[in-house]
Amino acid sequence: MIDPEAGRAERADQVPAGDGGSVVRAREFVGGIVAVEPAMGDSLLLTMSAPEQMVRQLRAGRFFEVLCRDDASYDPLLRRPFSVFRSDPTASTLTFLVRPYGRGSAWLAERPVGTRLDVLGPLGNTYEIPPRARNLLLVAGGVGAAPLVMLADEAVRRGLSVTFAMGAAGAAGLLEPSLLPSEVEYVVATEDGSKGHRGYVTEVLADYVRWADQIFACGPEPMYRSLRAAIQPLRVGGKPPVQISIERAMACGVGACLACVVETRHGTQASCVDGPVYDLDEVIW
Ligand SMILES: Cc1cc2nc3c(=O)[nH]c(=O)nc-3n(C[C@H](O)[C@H](O)[C@H](O)COP(=O)(O)OP(=O)(O)OC[C@H]3O[C@@H](n4cnc5c(N)ncnc54)[C@H](O)[C@@H]3O)c2cc1C
Ligand code: FES
Repeated sequence: MIDPEAGRAERADQVPAGDGGSVVRAREFVGGIVAVEPAMGDSLLLTMSAPEQMVRQLRAGRFFEVLCRDDASYDPLLRRPFSVFRSDPTASTLTFLVRPYGRGSAWLAERPVGTRLDVLGPLGNTYEIPPRARNLLLVAGGVGAAPLVMLADEAVRRGLSVTFAMGAAGAAGLLEPSLLPSEVEYVVATEDGSKGHRGYVTEVLADYVRWADQIFACGPEPMYRSLRAAIQPLRVGGKPPVQISIERAMACGVGACLACVVETRHGTQASCVDGPVYDLDEVIW
């Protein structure tokens, strides 16, 4: 369903003009849902209006805290974090990939076009493409595909070669190839063998690890452990480096509650502020 007329973002004046760099300060704003589309399995793509200048400066890896309840309700009280799947500065919209998981995300996945959403963001840091990198390997598990699609868009715009490897339990849990830029090589693995390699996505990476200048990943934490085990024998001197996005349960999203801490070689960090993107070798599991 697409409704281009549904709501322009309110309180856009609260969004700063930008600092001239890559990171935009977080602000609360209200935007209208303009499209809801099926994506994979029971997950949906939800597109909402957002302040144009903010959308223009968004970078892959950043996320938004969405208030997932009706105006008359306080349940759930806390916002829920969602990565940006795609942004469109021309339409002044951002898109989330939403998997109905618990009560907040299920509420969000049921919202029709026209619903006004109260959103805080953009939050967190970003994936960084090293200036000299030419070949990028992106490794996605489930809805972890979201920030990597945004990164693939960014990389293709810069003329880089991208291989996007995705794993899921079955074919229904994989992104449709049409949701990726056509320039991207798409490699898939399913645990039940219904599409691509039968097994885990970490089992198909050997050739690509040698080819890649930089690896980016987003998925459940067990995927990161098997990713590290799979690629470690193939890396030389820690290369290619690996950036991962850690999705810990979050409460405040602004570094105040410490619900989301991650142990790193530089000490304990709040992943909502210092992350969610980390160097794989920096994280202590
Ligand atoms: C930075 C970040 C980006 C995210 N991006 C996306 C995205 O693009 N798309 C998407 O569908 N989801 C994303 N998530 C996950 C999403 O935020 C959670 O699924 C959601 O907050 C769960 O809230 P709920 O109310 O639906 O479930 P609840 O009813 O609150 O929780 C159900 C159960 O899940 C546990 N739980 C809640 N959050 C998490 C978590 N992050 N990890 C492990 N267990 C958890 C709770 O402790 C509880 O036991 C992201 C999370 C983070 C931290
Ligand atoms: S979610 Fe509160 S400090 Fe990170």
